[in-house]
Amino acid sequence: MLPWRRYGLNVPKLDATDFVNRVLAWFEQHGRNSLPWQQDPSPYRVWVSEIMLQQTQVQTVIPYFNCFTDKFPTLESLAKATEDEVLHLWTGLGYYARARNLLKAARQVSRDYQGRFPRDIQLLQELPGIGRSTAGAIASLSMDLRAPILDGNVKRVLTRCFAIAGWPEQGKINTGLWQLAEQLTPHRQVADYTQAMMDLGATVCISTNPHCTRCPLQNRCRARTQNEIELYPSRKPKKALPTKSVVMYILLNSTGSVLLEKRPPSGIWGSLYSLPEGQPQARVASLMNQHFPLTGARRLASVRHTFSHYHLDIIPLQLPEQDCLPSKTENGRWLWYPLDHSHAVGLAAPVKKLLSILDQNRNH
Ligand code: ADE
Ligand code: SF4
Repeated sequence: MLPWRRYGLNVPKLDATDFVNRVLAWFEQHGRNSLPWQQDPSPYRVWVSEIMLQQTQVQTVIPYFNCFTDKFPTLESLAKATEDEVLHLWTGLGYYARARNLLKAARQVSRDYQGRFPRDIQLLQELPGIGRSTAGAIASLSMDLRAPILDGNVKRVLTRCFAIAGWPEQGKINTGLWQLAEQLTPHRQVADYTQAMMDLGATVCISTNPHCTRCPLQNRCRARTQNEIELYPSRKPKKALPTKSVVMYILLNSTGSVLLEKRPPSGIWGSLYSLPEGQPQARVASLMNQHFPLTGARRLASVRHTFSHYHLDIIPLQLPEQDCLPSKTENGRWLWYPLDHSHAVGLAAPVKKLLSILDQNRNH
C-alpha cells in the first residue's frame, strides 16, 4: 500500500522509475564526484565522512576528513587509538560525542566483526553513532546495498516533490517518508542515487529560494507546480503558550511625565525601568508609599508581549493625574519619565511601545 494512502498523506501517484531516472540523469551531469570520501569509498572512509557530515558542512569537513584518514587510514588503526588522539583530530568540528562514538564503534567492529563492517543495515544501526539514515548511506555508498536514506536534504526534496504536509519529524509523517524513500530507492546504481539525492538537496533544492529551474524534478514537483514551495517541509508546530496577565499603572503628572519603577536586577527586564505593576483584581494601586483608589482609573487597550515560554497580556490602567513626590528613601526606584523621551534610561520593550502610544494620544 502506498504510504500516503495508509497515512492519509495527500501525494500524487508514485512513479518511482520516472523519479529515479530524472535524478540519475541529473547526477551524471551535475553531481559531485571529487569529494575525498568518494575516492576509494570503502565502508571505513564513508562511515568516517558520514559521521563528520552529520552536523557539519561539506567544506568544513574536507580538511578534517583528510587529516583524520591520514592519521588513521584503516579501521584497525583507529580501533587502537586513544580517546585523546581522536578528540585531538576532532578539535574544531564540534559535537564531540561523535568522536567518542566513532572510537567505540571502531573497537566494536574490530572485536565483533574482525574489523569489517557488517553488510546489514540493522547491524550497522546497532553501532554507536549510526542512525537509520547514516546506516543507509554507508550501506548504499560503500557496499552497493539497496538501502534508503532520509537525512534533512532528502526530507526537503521529498516533502516538496510529493507535497507532503505535516512536520517531517512527527511519527506518522516520518514513517510515511521512510516508506516513500524506500520505494523510490532503485535496485541498480544505488550509490549514485544516494549521492544524487544528497547533492540535489544540498545544491539545488536548498532551504530558501531553491533553484527549481535547474532541478530535474521541476515538471513533476508538486510544491513547484502548485506554487507552494514555502509550505514544505512544514515547520515544527508551535506549542500553545500559556497566557499571563498583568496590570500596569499609568500615572502622569501635570508636566507630562509618567511614573516608572526600576525592576529588580534578576528576572524579566532585569534592572530596566517599567510601568509599576499590579494585580488585575486590585482595588487600590500602591505607588511610592501612596495609595490610589482605582475608581477613577481608565482601562486602555491591552498589549500582548510574547516571551519564549508565555504570552504576557498587559492591561494598562491609567490613573487620574497626580503631582506626588518621589519617595526619598527608595533611591533610584521611582522615576518621573518625560514622555518626550528626554531621559536616557533602559525601558522594557512593551513599556516603550505603551509610552509612545500614550505620547501620541496626548499630542492629538
Ligand atoms: N552529507 C551527508 N553525506 C554526504 C555525502 N556523502 N556527500 C555530500 N554531502 C553529504
Ligand atoms: Fe525542490 Fe524546486 Fe526541485 Fe521542487 S522543483 S524538488 S522545490 S528544487
